[in-house]
Amino acid sequence: MSDKKARISLAGNQDSIELPVLNGSIGPDVIDVRSLVSHGVFTYDPGFMSTASTESSITYIDGDEGMLLHRGYPIDQLADHSDYLETCYLLLHGELPNPTEKKSFVAEITRHTMVDAQIAQLLNGFQRNAHPMAVLISLTGALAALYHEGLDVDDPVHRRLAAIRLIAKMPTLAAMIYKHSIGQPIMGPVNALNYSENFLHMMFGVPAEGPSVSPVLAKAMDVIFLLHADHEQNASTSTVRLAGSTGANPYACIASGIAALWGPAHGGANEAVLKMLNEIGDESRIEEFIARAKDKDDPFRLMGFGHRVYKNFDPRSKVMRKICDEVLADLGVENDPLFRIARRLEKIALEDQYFIDRKLYPNVDFYSGIILKAIGIPMGMFTVVFALGRTPGWISHWNEMLSGAYKIGRPRQLYRGAPRRDYPLF
Ligand code: SDX
Repeated sequence: MSDKKARISLAGNQDSIELPVLNGSIGPDVIDVRSLVSHGVFTYDPGFMSTASTESSITYIDGDEGMLLHRGYPIDQLADHSDYLETCYLLLHGELPNPTEKKSFVAEITRHTMVDAQIAQLLNGFQRNAHPMAVLISLTGALAALYHEGLDVDDPVHRRLAAIRLIAKMPTLAAMIYKHSIGQPIMGPVNALNYSENFLHMMFGVPAEGPSVSPVLAKAMDVIFLLHADHEQNASTSTVRLAGSTGANPYACIASGIAALWGPAHGGANEAVLKMLNEIGDESRIEEFIARAKDKDDPFRLMGFGHRVYKNFDPRSKVMRKICDEVLADLGVENDPLFRIARRLEKIALEDQYFIDRKLYPNVDFYSGIILKAIGIPMGMFTVVFALGRTPGWISHWNEMLSGAYKIGRPRQLYRGAPRRDYPLF
């Protein structure tokens, strides 16, 4: 708590209101407005542009510097030196694991990768061309039906088991959904493979052949998961926190986060970027689409560009572009036309005054779709991959909230409707 105070005075009210100012370990101070309701006034901030909804120690973003820290560690260093499961451990526990802790954590995750056969039965209720995100929401919510009895969200042991199960089962659920969509047999997890190798094996392996996963693609997949692992109080994480604040089942809370992530303004942007690049189709049409993105009368936006917090490069997009280079080269498709269009689009947009003035830079979604497409993952599965990567972030925020004192989230409003009136009795 700092000694700093904020003082506001309301028109027509002689007394001014003094509010405490709280400071974090880094980042902006916050004005604690909790007492305002006792003065009969609310703050108003649709979209939460200037509102801290909670305190947290998990992730910090400096949008001006283009900095992203997970428990203090910069994302580019984690991408270079850590791996996805180690980052999951870091997000959940607050510190990097020692070799023994890491080995035990990986073994725990490995033991929970299988999914109950009844959940697999649910797949048959979906047509093969159902959007994979709709199916993932359903299957994840169905885990709440499976793991509900005896689950006490106030018990840290129960919360940890839910965290392990969700991180472990997301790749299996994602691959099941893909196999169902193409009519191939579901491939179960193979414990001899590492987390990302297992995902690619379950996605692209077939019963007729043994596991055969490219180490380059598995490493790329692992870094893609890592880059998506957490991102402060973004829309889907805030959804998970709000659902969790009611004491709801953790699997249901994560299903709500998956639902929020689906939107094209959020996690659905990776799919939207690829659709946009396909629509542009040729480098000669880039200027036309840049003009549309700037035209207020045209709803078109440059997907994969801009961010509520980053007013500089999204550090994840820099790492993603490096992976893109590596994967396309490894696959011998470095002249991929969509990648060429993306690189040229990025160059032109970054030199355009409209984007410069609004500090619009490529975000995490700009390159991810090109990599996923090159790996062979279909566009409809892109946001499923994002959800898989984000699961440890969602569950860490859910767990952080439930580990301390919390209140049910219940925003107020600025009412602009009809005043009280009587029902016409004539
Ligand atoms: C993710 O929150 C997170 O952390 C999210 C995320 C995570 O890891 O969880 O980082 C993941 O969601 C990344 C963002 C993915 N979405 C997209 O790529 C969709 C395209 N981007 C835009 O829809 C937009 O940039 C948002 C939604 C990301 C941010 O919107 P804001 O902060 O509400 O900004 P805004 O809409 O008020 O835009 C400010 C100005 C406007 O112009 P003016 O009214 O000032 O003239 O910038 C313009 C906007 O028109 N603008 C764009 C643009 N994004 C903003 N113009 C063209 N193309 C764009 N992409």
